Amino acid sequence: MPGRIPENILDDILSRVDIVEIIAGYLPLKRSGRNFKTCCPFHHEKTPSFMVSPDRQIYHCFGCGESGNAFKFLMRYERLDFPEAVEALARKTGVILPQDERHQSKTSGLSAQVYRINELAAGFYAGNLNSPQGLKPKDYLLKRGIKEETIHGLKLGLALDRWDSLINNLRPKSISLDLLEKAGLVINKEGGGYYDRFRNRIIFPIFDIKDRVLGFGARVLDNSLPKYLNSPETPVYTKGRHLYGFNLAKESIRENDFVAIVEGYLDFIIPYQEGLKSIVASLGTALTIEQVRFLKRYTHNVVMVYDADSAGELATLRSLDIFIEEEMNVKIVSLPKGLDPDSFVRKYGVAAFRDKIINAQNILDYKLGILKSRYNLKEIEGVAKVSALMLETIAKFKNAVLKSEYLRRLAQELNIREEALLQDLHKVKTEGPNSVAHMTIHRRVNSVNPTEKLLMSLMLEESSLINRIRDTLDVKDFQDERISRIVSIMFDLVDQGKAVEPQILMNHLGDDISELVCESVFLPQAASESHKERVVDNCIQRMKSDRMKLERERLHEQIKSAQALGDNEALKRLTEEFHCLIKKKAGKV
Ligand code: UTP
Ligand code: MN
Repeated sequence: MPGRIPENILDDILSRVDIVEIIAGYLPLKRSGRNFKTCCPFHHEKTPSFMVSPDRQIYHCFGCGESGNAFKFLMRYERLDFPEAVEALARKTGVILPQDERHQSKTSGLSAQVYRINELAAGFYAGNLNSPQGLKPKDYLLKRGIKEETIHGLKLGLALDRWDSLINNLRPKSISLDLLEKAGLVINKEGGGYYDRFRNRIIFPIFDIKDRVLGFGARVLDNSLPKYLNSPETPVYTKGRHLYGFNLAKESIRENDFVAIVEGYLDFIIPYQEGLKSIVASLGTALTIEQVRFLKRYTHNVVMVYDADSAGELATLRSLDIFIEEEMNVKIVSLPKGLDPDSFVRKYGVAAFRDKIINAQNILDYKLGILKSRYNLKEIEGVAKVSALMLETIAKFKNAVLKSEYLRRLAQELNIREEALLQDLHKVKTEGPNSVAHMTIHRRVNSVNPTEKLLMSLMLEESSLINRIRDTLDVKDFQDERISRIVSIMFDLVDQGKAVEPQILMNHLGDDISELVCESVFLPQAASESHKERVVDNCIQRMKSDRMKLERERLHEQIKSAQALGDNEALKRLTEEFHCLIKKKAGKV
């Protein structure tokens, strides 16, 4: 895995970073004995099973199995490739990477290449808007109220009305069509050949937090369909991981401690241009847990702004429960019929829009409003239905004070006794669809020989035991391939006079194997200090006798088949071997 970056440099970087500090920069860590824990950022869960060890400098999630060292965390969380993660931590720790290695890390790696191509493509599209062919499209944007400086600032562009203009533009820059396809910019024709994905459309580049171009949205210039085309999933772009405009809004979000979330590109652009800077766009899809957690690092106060159509849907409401589960404050603005944030701001001005946001409705009041318009509260069935639907949301609050306050208000609103609501509340299942997500998570660590596993964790805990074990066991004595691989690397590290630390071991192992190492770090200590050597000796003994037993069984089988075949020569040899084995056992190795 380490590629061309010298191992001693990787080790040096790891010895200078503190994984606790790094992870705490992204997630709230709570102490738990010698370790820290938090809810796993890589799968949805309500009870923390994501552990971080300050002693061993690794993390492991007992829910989904995700685990590794500081490099791996950055790779997974920030979606970096290995050289990028190394570079980030090298910068942080002041370790200097060899010059050519650094160059290499910038230009190699599929992600890095896709970022570069996206950058070139964005430049090409932006240029088109200033060409003669861009006159009408530019006019369209200006007519929609987007100012020249905004067009420039957001690097808006134009895909020409041709099948190959991007291909032809990038070809002289020696970029392979294969890469262009991986970047989602061209499409492979069935009969062979390629053509531009985006044609005759306004281009909206989508940036990440570091201003790198992740992908594109592309809008038609008329009323044809589909209105928007988007980049497909690429090595750098995953739907539901990013928020449009976040790179521009992040400082303001942090400063004002609030964010407005809208649905479309234009709904971001117009209010932002007019001065409402704490705003991002979800690009028309329901928010994902990743987006919510991402925002949570900047603010806990969210205002969702919907046009009248989507605001009226119960599905929209349900999608907001995710904020409650993440203990964030979420409010809702519902715009007048026929208006979205873009047209609202153009019609009434940004101050009126800000007013709407300031007066946003709390999610429960808002939900109650919708339910009241749908069910008849004069009938007892209506009351029961509304209270059941309201309790679904109230049950999601973790904060007991909030929960009881909302319960009190609901009782008042519906004019029923609070105790009755409370009784029903206890019946509401709080798990919901998330528990399903939980169950579908794939555990990869399947059963491993417990003796071998115990020996491995003892070696990890106490490297002085490695030599004791090595004196009597060979790498091949470990039946489990993964453990055998781990042990062989530990032996190699010892040979090189290096410390055998899980976080360093990790750089030599694939994900499925390193998970085994990480997990063992967090399992209860194998034995108390004074007993460790005895436990080791017992394990070795057990492994030897296990192996002996296997060998006996193998010989026994062979003898039987030699007998059946009447192969006397083989029978003689095998029988001798068998007696040798028995004698060996009597002599205790
Ligand atoms: P809207 O239909 O509200 O579009 O979709 P809009 O942003 O207001 O665009 P204008 O004002 O008509 O120009 C909201 C968002 O949903 C996504 C886009 O991200 C869009 O901004 N969307 C919509 C698509 O991805 N594809 C579509 O065909 C339509
Ligand atoms: Mn619109």
